[in-house]
Amino acid sequence: MRAWILDGSFGLEQLTLKARDRAEPGPGQVRLKMTAASLNFRDLLMVRGLYNPRQPLPLIPCSDGVGVVEAVGDGVDEGMLGQRVMPIFAQGWLAGAPTREKLMSTLGGPLDGTLAEEMVVSADGVVEVPEHLTDVEAATLPCAGVTAWNALAEQGGIRAGQTVLTLGTGGVSIFALQFGRLLGARVFITSSKEEKLARARALGAEECINYVENPKWGKVAAELAGDGVDLVVEVGGAGTLEQSVRAVKIGGRISLIGVLSGGVEAFNVIPVLMRNLRIQGVIVGHREMFEAMNRAIEFHGMRPVVDRVYGFEEVPAAFEDLGKGEHFGKLCIDLTQ
Ligand SMILES: NC(=O)c1ccc[n+]([C@@H]2O[C@H](COP(=O)([O-])OP(=O)(O)OC[C@H]3O[C@@H](n4cnc5c(N)ncnc54)[C@H](OP(=O)(O)O)[C@@H]3O)[C@@H](O)[C@H]2O)c1
Repeated sequence: MRAWILDGSFGLEQLTLKARDRAEPGPGQVRLKMTAASLNFRDLLMVRGLYNPRQPLPLIPCSDGVGVVEAVGDGVDEGMLGQRVMPIFAQGWLAGAPTREKLMSTLGGPLDGTLAEEMVVSADGVVEVPEHLTDVEAATLPCAGVTAWNALAEQGGIRAGQTVLTLGTGGVSIFALQFGRLLGARVFITSSKEEKLARARALGAEECINYVENPKWGKVAAELAGDGVDLVVEVGGAGTLEQSVRAVKIGGRISLIGVLSGGVEAFNVIPVLMRNLRIQGVIVGHREMFEAMNRAIEFHGMRPVVDRVYGFEEVPAAFEDLGKGEHFGKLCIDLTQ
């Protein structure tokens, strides 16, 4: 089987398509014939050596994908054969609070990931694909989808009529927009581009703010909401946190998810305490959350937003495009092409 392998040192130019021996599933494991994968910003950081510079190489990158169960190991129900499944992001995190050990079981680093024609994972570490989704659509769900679901539906406890502000129009943010609408929330969104804001409006975003034209977008969002938003889906990180604090209402919540604008910057903590805010870190989510999200997706017939699909041999070009940030929603790989 072939896989994209990062070997020797970090950098996109070190990513090469290589042949590897087929692995047989051990007890409690399944082997998947992979059909699709999707890229996350984390995967790009991992390839560049910026996510974890101590990550041992070689590594097969990417956490997200879909495969068909083609072999099962001892103790695994043979009824799984032929199922379309998605590996979960943290293979050992099935439910409950995360632990250091569970968070060390993530695909695409430290464990090998989904950019391969075949992969062997734990039978507990996969969930079934919602029936109405294509493989490429479902390949977007394990990291970006579950993260947005966790921020809104699980930790955020968003209820109908509440207001959510999500930043930019990348993978996590567009899922946050879709889940916000599905939960009956008012969703505000920011973007650097008017055409992306128009697409977000078509998906149900109520207020669309250009963060380049409005550097004080947090204040703008707070005023549009009346007295601040209930939840900010904070994917920008250190460079956007000050405006996110401006956006949120007294007693509101900021789900701290990403670092698109960087991870370290001077930050005035006073408004956080004076306004009784909660800043909650989010690290994807566990298998039970993934299954709850899938039930909601299936019930509402929701479809993830796929911007562009690349063939298996076009993986480097897909990573380059991810780095340009021109996409809306997700960039995917069709592993059968
Ligand atoms: N904690 C977790 O569990 C978790 C899970 C998934 C992702 N993440 C993190 O969350 C972040 C987003 O991930 P992703 O995969 O959704 O990324 P992505 O798809 O690559 O998002 C790119 C988009 O983000 C927007 N953006 C870039 N800089 C921005 C800024 N300063 N302010 C507002 N928007 C900005 C741009 O949208 P416009 O072109 O519309 O401006 C850009 O197109 C990353 O830092 C990622 O590592 C964390």
